[in-house]
Amino acid sequence: MDVVFALGGSVLMPKEGASTENIQNYAKAFKKLKEMGHRVSVVVGGGNTARQYISVAREFANESFCDEIGILATRMNSMLLISALGKDAVKQVPENFKDAEIILNMDKILVMGGTHPAHTTDAVSATLAEFIDADLLVIATNVDGVYNKDPRCNKDAVKLDKINTKELLEITGSSSMSAGSSGVVDPLASKIIDRAKLKTIVVKGIPEEIISSVSGNHNGTTITP
Ligand code: UTP
Repeated sequence: MDVVFALGGSVLMPKEGASTENIQNYAKAFKKLKEMGHRVSVVVGGGNTARQYISVAREFANESFCDEIGILATRMNSMLLISALGKDAVKQVPENFKDAEIILNMDKILVMGGTHPAHTTDAVSATLAEFIDADLLVIATNVDGVYNKDPRCNKDAVKLDKINTKELLEITGSSSMSAGSSGVVDPLASKIIDRAKLKTIVVKGIPEEIISSVSGNHNGTTITP
């Protein structure tokens, strides 16, 4: 299967900072999927590094400048994952989808970060999945699925096992567009998922769930066109 993963920077690079073991466990999961015969692309988020830099820069700069800082953080996190993937990756982070596809055609695991201001790596992963005609998009993040309302502020929020892309649009439509924002799926990504009719799964970004998401045996939310 041709699978694109959006790997939240907050899971790869948590508040406590980078850990060799954590990065290695993600690299092992992606290598295992490649060994199983899947074509694997990973779009890495900026995580805490992005948020720290953006919160200081916002005192001085506009949102798109802050986004540019966030993009650099996504590329630094990408380099970290690339370092752990060794010969299964290329030691370069592509900045557009054409260059990304060249890496996939070299039979390597593709790792990339952000592209342009005003969206997040969720939107990058959805566009990449559309561009390469992927079979599946997996959003591996710091929540375990899509809820009917934000579970961080609503104790009665309910996790949804299955939704369609129109329902996803309704749920994510009001998410913030500001630099460093962290809705479960960015509103632009939801629109791309809908237009490209992408089968999408949102799972907790732990290596076990990343592997299970491809077999369909996961605990997250499945989004169908
Ligand atoms: P992300 O929001 O994608 O990373 O990028 P994240 O926070 O690690 O993802 P999650 O929430 O854990 O899933 C960090 C910031 O970088 C900028 C945005 O400001 C974004 O909030 N960015 C990233 C862009 O402007 N364009 C991009 O293509 C990617």
